[in-house]
Amino acid sequence: MIIPFEFASIPRIIFGAGKLSELYELIPEFGNNVLIVTGGTSLEKSGNWDIISSNLTQKGFDFSHAFITEEPSPNRIDEIAAKYRTMNIDVIVGIGGGSVTDAGKAISAMIPYQDSIVNYLEGVGTKKPDGKKVPYIAIPTTSGTGSEATKNAVISKVGEDGFKKSLRHDNYIPNIAIVDPELMLTCPPSITGACGMDAFTQLLEAYVSAKGNPMTNALAYSGLKYMKDNIVPACTSGSDDIGVRTAMAYGSLMSGITLANAGLGIVHGLASPIGGYFEIPHGVVCGTLLAEATKMNILKLKEKGIEGRPALMKHSEIGALMAGEEDFKKGELYKYLDLLIETLEKWTNNLEIEKLSAYGIAEDDFDKIIEKASLKNNPVHLSSDDIRKILKNRL
Ligand SMILES: [Fe+2]
Repeated sequence: MIIPFEFASIPRIIFGAGKLSELYELIPEFGNNVLIVTGGTSLEKSGNWDIISSNLTQKGFDFSHAFITEEPSPNRIDEIAAKYRTMNIDVIVGIGGGSVTDAGKAISAMIPYQDSIVNYLEGVGTKKPDGKKVPYIAIPTTSGTGSEATKNAVISKVGEDGFKKSLRHDNYIPNIAIVDPELMLTCPPSITGACGMDAFTQLLEAYVSAKGNPMTNALAYSGLKYMKDNIVPACTSGSDDIGVRTAMAYGSLMSGITLANAGLGIVHGLASPIGGYFEIPHGVVCGTLLAEATKMNILKLKEKGIEGRPALMKHSEIGALMAGEEDFKKGELYKYLDLLIETLEKWTNNLEIEKLSAYGIAEDDFDKIIEKASLKNNPVHLSSDDIRKILKNRL
């Protein structure tokens, strides 16, 4: 039986190699005054910024340019929103990795307020955003966070009182997502690997989520199917293969849609406090923990016997998908559990995903991390000791 569910809207999606060229026809739907948000230098190094800026100039747009050089902090968002609040911006375009596409989303949301974003962050502020915003076009250049399709922007403050919290409203789903895999061809292997593991984690966590429904299951499965054979090639021999990059971009997009509607599990429940306390890229946290967390979830689900069977079967379906045996017999489902774990472990090694200690995390830090960890929609309850084991095995 299908349990009742809600599915938030998705952006207008413009997907495919070369589709960036449609940006200049889309901007006039909102107006002429554009704020472009990009990262530090990678867009320039790739040559794409020259193409974008000369097209904007040629077509007569009035455009300003704001930079996000690290994970977006409340101060940086407040600063940019204040600067452009009185400039009658018609549309914001965020072009970059997850930090940039999230920052663009947050700026578009904060321009209408005379207030700091801190007051609206979940678990930090006390005010609820009302969804008012400047229209927003998101253009990812990494296949990772799926931010181009989500309703939240993750804002970080790093340090002892650090946090990684979301500004969230259904209306913050970007108006348009232009997903052009050509922009991802120059993404280096380490970033491609970490971002790819983030997207894969989001798809798997959404697929086995306690809040999943047939729609999110279908989309997550489809994303996993395209990603599984392309995640390693995207970081190695296939990094300049547009087919490989397109599959990764599709998986990442599906991960954004499914996480927004099915929620996530323990890996993301740990990524939030770890990313708040330490300067560690989100994709590395996800990539380093995914295999261990999946192993723990499967162990705990097995211990639950018949009650754990539906979620175990879902893990098995993905194991079978990894093996290219989608037409498996139902009775054989459990044999694929080990295969799922083995594949994730192999990827973690092949993609050289670093361990937590490489970012200064020590066993003494586990208590404060576990205290703030959330099980979110994890398919099974995990105790503090279970979570500690996951962390310890990736220290
Ligand atoms: Fe993520």
